[in-house]
Amino acid sequence: MTPGRPTPIDEEIMLDNTKYIESETDTHGTIVDCNDYFAEISGYTKDELIGAPHNIVRHPDMPKIVFKLLWDRIQSGHNITAVIKNMAKDGRYYWVFTHFEIIRDINTKEIKGYRAYRKMVSPHIKKVLDPLYKRLTEIEKEGGMEASEKALNEFLREGGDHITLDNLMEEIHRFY
Ligand SMILES: Cc1cc2nc3c(=O)[nH]c(=O)nc-3n(C[C@H](O)[C@H](O)[C@H](O)COP(=O)(O)O)c2cc1C
Repeated sequence: MTPGRPTPIDEEIMLDNTKYIESETDTHGTIVDCNDYFAEISGYTKDELIGAPHNIVRHPDMPKIVFKLLWDRIQSGHNITAVIKNMAKDGRYYWVFTHFEIIRDINTKEIKGYRAYRKMVSPHIKKVLDPLYKRLTEIEKEGGMEASEKALNEFLREGGDHITLDNLMEEIHRFY
């Protein structure tokens, strides 16, 4: 009974820079817990969020390759930071600088879920990433994720050797 996706509208929701949007998922990305601020910003109630797949706030401007890199990292047990454009229930968007962490079983040490903390993104980061993400999404429509991964790597190479998407995110965040 997934309701239809909202229609995106070109209006930004500004975040409070003293607050974090927090959520926790199982290993499949189903939301198992979240804070009140997540509900407030996304426009969904906590009841709607808990039990839903995390792509409930996915924005169509986000390229698949970013989520692929994200999942590759966390499934291999590494934390990652990523800047994501999300969509609220009413179709407005909000940008978040997100830190992902692994939750492990205390005894077996196996990954039992993931946690994400999100805060406001500077206007500079949005200015760099908005056109990049839109371009990658367009490239994906034509040539799939292989093509967008290649384009992303080309973009990253312009920033210097061995730059990965998550250290690019860290760098631009530290810089601005
Ligand atoms: C802890 C955690 C938090 C996530 N937070 C977001 C988020 O804020 N926005 C988002 O679009 N995807 C988020 N994801 C990724 C989604 O699970 C999903 O991979 C993504 O929305 C792409 O959806 P799709 O695979 O249906 O295209 C998160 C995943 C995890 C594990």
